[in-house]
Amino acid sequence: MLSLSQHKSYLLSILLDMSIQPISGQTRVVGIFGDPIAHTRSPAMHNAAFRARGLPYVYVPFLVRPADLPRAVQSVRALNLAGVNVTVPHKERIVRYLDVLSAEAELCGAVNTIVNREGTLFGDNTDGRGFLVSLQERELSPRRREIVLIGAGGATRAVLVSLIRAGSARVTIVNRTLAKSQALVHRYGSLGKTQLAALPFDALQDPALFKDATLVVNCTSVGLHGEDFPPLPYTSTPRSCLFYDLLYRPGLTSFLQQARRAHRAILDGRRMLLHQGALAFSLWTRTPAPIEVMARALARVLQHKPADHRHR
Ligand code: ATR
Repeated sequence: MLSLSQHKSYLLSILLDMSIQPISGQTRVVGIFGDPIAHTRSPAMHNAAFRARGLPYVYVPFLVRPADLPRAVQSVRALNLAGVNVTVPHKERIVRYLDVLSAEAELCGAVNTIVNREGTLFGDNTDGRGFLVSLQERELSPRRREIVLIGAGGATRAVLVSLIRAGSARVTIVNRTLAKSQALVHRYGSLGKTQLAALPFDALQDPALFKDATLVVNCTSVGLHGEDFPPLPYTSTPRSCLFYDLLYRPGLTSFLQQARRAHRAILDGRRMLLHQGALAFSLWTRTPAPIEVMARALARVLQHKPADHRHR
């Protein structure tokens, strides 16, 4: 039970998190390009962080239609925006309009964060690093470990590249469309020492697949609308195996509900969303991100969403 003064300071912290910095001649603008964009949680998270750090920045959503993307990128230079995040459907196509790419953006062929360095646009991808930080928080290192990734879309690609760079021993990619998981194996098979394998979706019924798994990640959209995830042999995993769903929905996805019933550790997409944002914040401001302020702001906006996807 909170005392009256604790309650007051809690309410005050919420008001501070929700307020934005006063706009002045010094204000730098950052934001997010996407279509649709009305669902984005990033403004709440970043504006709370700017406020907490006393930084003269404001973060705004920009609805950018696909046909307008080249002009929107040009406007980052023309309006001297400090940078932007990029979300669906632009993450891949925007690459061609940028000046410099990070190694991760280059490898993923996708950008989620742009930094404007005096007119030179630097494209980075913080999704994979955000994923790794969320594992670190759980004291899970993917190095030399066996991992199962379910799905073979853009989210899988970012996670896969981060796992190879982190030195995982083996990553098995299981996908409904086998050709897509095979294409990932082909593209990234020689990137590091990680052994890659591609399997069809029904391989998920095979207990042998999970026998040595440290981590099983749902990178598909199955569960986004409350759909059931096909039952897996959860108890065939080691007892310490973590089941990670990149999706988030209040009350847990079916994938995580089943893992919890099998007494396995679980994690949903919120911490990855948080950390990819925190990394973008630091790229723009060269300041460490106030993680817990951002987490609180995110939790508040997610409360009002019935279900949500990893794409901010
Ligand atoms: P993202 O960029 O978020 O990864 P995506 O590229 O559309 O999104 O990928 C969605 C993933 O969810 C794909 O791996 C897709 O499988 P296919 O490659 O076979 O399309 C997977 N997916 C979506 N609906 C699915 C379903 N009902 N059953 C199994 N996999 C599904």
